[in-house]
Formats: sequence, C-alpha cells, structure tokens
Amino acid sequence: MIENIKTTPYTDQKMGTAGLRKKSKVVMQPNYFENFVQSIFNVIKPAGKTYVVGGDGRFYNDTAIQKLIKIAAANGVKKLIIGQNGYMSTPASSNMILKRHTDGGFVLTASHNPGGENGDFGIKFATATGGQCSGQVSDEIFEQSKTINEYKILQADDIKLDQLGTQKLENMEIEIVDPIKDYIELMEHIFDFNAIKKLFQNGFTMCFDAMNAVTGPYAIEIFENILGAAKGSVLNATPKKDFGGLHPDPNLVYATELVNLMFGNNAPDFGAANDGDGDRNMILGKKFFVTPSDSLAILTDNYALIPAYKNGIFGVAKSMATSTAVARVASAHNIGYYEVPTGWKYFVNLMDSKRITFCGEESFGTGSSHIREKDGIWAVLFWLNIIAASGKSVEQITREHWAKYGRSYYMRFDFDGIPTDVANDLVQNLEQKLPPLNGQSKGEFKIKLAEVFTYNDPVDHSSTSNGMRILMEDGSRIVFRLSGTSSSGATLRVYLEKLEHSNFNADPREMVDGLLQIAMDIAEIEARTGKKQADITT
Ligand code: G1P
Ligand code: ZN
Repeated sequence: MIENIKTTPYTDQKMGTAGLRKKSKVVMQPNYFENFVQSIFNVIKPAGKTYVVGGDGRFYNDTAIQKLIKIAAANGVKKLIIGQNGYMSTPASSNMILKRHTDGGFVLTASHNPGGENGDFGIKFATATGGQCSGQVSDEIFEQSKTINEYKILQADDIKLDQLGTQKLENMEIEIVDPIKDYIELMEHIFDFNAIKKLFQNGFTMCFDAMNAVTGPYAIEIFENILGAAKGSVLNATPKKDFGGLHPDPNLVYATELVNLMFGNNAPDFGAANDGDGDRNMILGKKFFVTPSDSLAILTDNYALIPAYKNGIFGVAKSMATSTAVARVASAHNIGYYEVPTGWKYFVNLMDSKRITFCGEESFGTGSSHIREKDGIWAVLFWLNIIAASGKSVEQITREHWAKYGRSYYMRFDFDGIPTDVANDLVQNLEQKLPPLNGQSKGEFKIKLAEVFTYNDPVDHSSTSNGMRILMEDGSRIVFRLSGTSSSGATLRVYLEKLEHSNFNADPREMVDGLLQIAMDIAEIEARTGKKQADITT
C-alpha cells in the first residue's frame, strides 16, 4: 500500500561539490532522507524509469537503501538495479548506468569522509549521462526540498539485498547485481592485463590500501586473483560500516599504514590507495609520492602505452585548483585543454561532446571518458600498465616527466571549522582586494592576473564562478576557494604552486613558503580566523 506521509521541510538540503553530505545523525532525523529523495523525484519525474543504486556500505547505507527502494516504488519507478548488499563503488555505478542505459542512479556515500554514527552520510544523484546532475538540476531539487510537505512511500517488507537476481515489489522490478563483474570487464577492455600479469610474474610487488571501504573486493579480484599480485597485496580489504575507524581518504595524512610501508625499508615497488566509494586514488613508488596533479600529467603524456587510448585521445581537463602540469603536456601533444570549477560534474559535458578523454583534480581524482566519474582503480591500473610497458619505476617515470616539462611544486592548505559567516566575509573581502593587485609585485613574485575564476561551459553555455586565483609571471599560482563538501562549518582551501625548470629535489613545503606568506597576508587569514597555520596540509 502506498502511503502519503505529511512532512515539513528541512532547509539545509543543498547539494555541494558532490551531492548531499551531512552528519549521519542529521540524515537520521525523522523524514530527512525521505524528504530529500522525494525532492529529487519531484524534479526528475521517475515514473516508468530505471535507476542504478550503489553505495559504499557505510553506516546507515542499509536503512537508507530500503527507504529509497520503497519511495521509488511509490513514485512509479519501473526498475532499480542494485549492487549486492547495497554495495557498488561510484565508478562501477557510473559504468552500470551507461552500460544498462538507465535514466540515472543514486550512490549512497559521503566519499572519503569518515563513516559511522558520528561520521558522515551522503547521497549522490547521477543522470543518464552517468555523471552527477548539473548545478541547475541540484538547484531545482534544493527548491523542492524547501517547500516539500508530503512524500510517498510503499508500506512493504524489506528487500533481500543479498539475493542476486530479480525480485518484484508491487509493480517495480528490482535486480540485485554483482557490483564487480561488469566493472572488471570494462577494465580488461581498457588495459593490457597480459602485460601487467607478466610484470607480477617477474617479481614486481605492490600494495593497495582499500581502507576498509568499498574497493576491497574489487582490488582482491583484480590485483590478486586476476593479475597475480601476491596474496596479501591488498590491505584493509573488508568493507566496514565505520571503515574500521579509518578516515578513508587516500592521502599522505590518512593512509598511514600504506605510507609507513612505502617509506619503510622493505617497501614494495608500487603503492596505491582508494577512498570510501572508490573514486579517489593515491599513487606511491618506493619512498616516493606522486602528486595527483603530476599523476594526471603523466597519465596524459603516456596515453599511447594503453590499448584503449593508443589511437589518440581528445583533450584533457583539470579543475582550476589543480596544478598546471597537465597544461604543458596538452600543449606538447597539441590536444584540447580545459580548466573547470571544482567538482567532477563539470567534466561531463566535455566528455560527452568528445572535447576531452582524460580529466583530473588535485584532490586525488583522475579519470577518463570510459565513465563519467573519477575512478580510483582505473588510475592504479593505468600506472601499472605504464610501468609494465616502459619497464620503469614510479620514481623514474616521474623524474623523467619533470626533466621534460618542469616540476610544479604543489601543496594544499586547509583551514577547517571556520564559522560560515567568517568564511563568507573573508571571501568577499578577498574578491574586492584582488583586481587592484594586477601588475603589483609581492616578495619575489610579480602578479600577472588576480581574479575570481569564472567558467563558461562551451556546451550548455552556463557560467559558474568558483574560487579566486593569483597568477604570477613565473608560472606560480595561489588559489583560494571554500570547500563545497563540508558537513558542518566552512573550510578554506589555499592551493599553492611553484613552477621550477631545473631544481627538482627541493622540499615542497619550503618551495611554496613564499607563496603561503603572500596568501596568508592577502586573505588576512590569521586576523579573520585566528588560525596561524592550516589544520591539514596535503
Ligand atoms: C572536494 C575536492 C574536489 C572533489 C570533491 C568530491 O571538494 O576538493 O576536488 O571533487 O571533494 O570528491 P571541496 O570540498 O573542495 O568542494
Ligand atoms: Zn570519493
């Protein structure tokens, strides 16, 4: 029986950089999740349509999926394709949407944020493109959420999410699928699995940290069972509701077990980690870290080594905050190059219109037009394929890259937990201060351009402002922006890049120090936030 439940709106259901992300306890409030899902349905008119449902398995995933199923059935959805036990990584979900030509999909995740009752929960909504909905659609959903007074839900028993195959819930079909199989087929189609198998047969060693999150079973199957990496190469391989207490963000700060191993004396040849929902990646060599910005540039430069790309690629895109390393590669290869606001959804139009093949963000996201989300395991396989084809180590590949293109020393400084009004004032003040800086000198730098960054989408002609940038004459940069994924308070991100053409062995922190002083000074960070230094540096 379908029930129409009276409800009152919550006013904070605005989607950020990657869907709706909130504290679990916020999402668990009465009708909170239901309101949001119904608000989406009010906009997308789901009757007769088919959607994919995935999730990273975090706390509340199981409860939320059952609610989503029953609200979908009550709203006339024709069919849901759901990952077994409610698990499907973000990239695998995007693949499923495209492969099965569905009308879109939902991924229940707060990505790399901690999970558990005191952690975060979230929902990403993707359209038939396989990518997250546009800003315009999320604005419409937000408007709905502010006035919603009723949602529809089917009163029914819970669905058995562990049973593969098709079930019926009233008129809605539910297909529970293996979340891994189709994804692996896609990877086998892109990369030279035989070359990578040989690499492992010849004694190559790797370690992949799944951080107790969704990619564990994918990684065991691909790296250990299919490609032949030694058993035990995948760490933290069992998905846990609270990620075993880990903060499942693959960076030097949070992937400590992997980092200690890779910088220790018995380091394997190659190290990598993925985040909660499997779209982020970190790449390490023996005692060597590859910045995500460099990784994007290196993958792009080496596209011809990969079977699926060897006949040529369209262009490449990066988020504005990402370092300019890939711009130099694009220019050398004479391919299209785009800079977009932060958030993967901005790459989707560029991929759909065949303007780009590769894209990436400094926040450990890399991907290609094989799907419409960033893809952690794809990036790891890309590196393994380059290593197998070139016979070179991670460090060698990276150093040769710097020698050819220069090195963008790059660091990001995050100032967390700033009261929202303080952060907004800081940004407003900065926006006014920037234009007069054009042409001025600061320390050793001469400012070429200081501006609010505005992106004009070449496909749908929408215009989006996101962040501010100060470009120096020598190619160095300072970028400021507020995070769009904080689940409470505001985070100011300061991104610094210092371009060097011959000095490749310096300490990145020392290299960006001059830029950091300028950034702190111009944005009045200490005076406005009371913070003398960043809370997190990556
Ligand atoms: C952060 C990253 C951004 C990424 C997003 C989702 O968003 O900076 O690159 O797309 O998470 O993974 P932010 O909090 O900066 O808005
Ligand atoms: Zn993620």
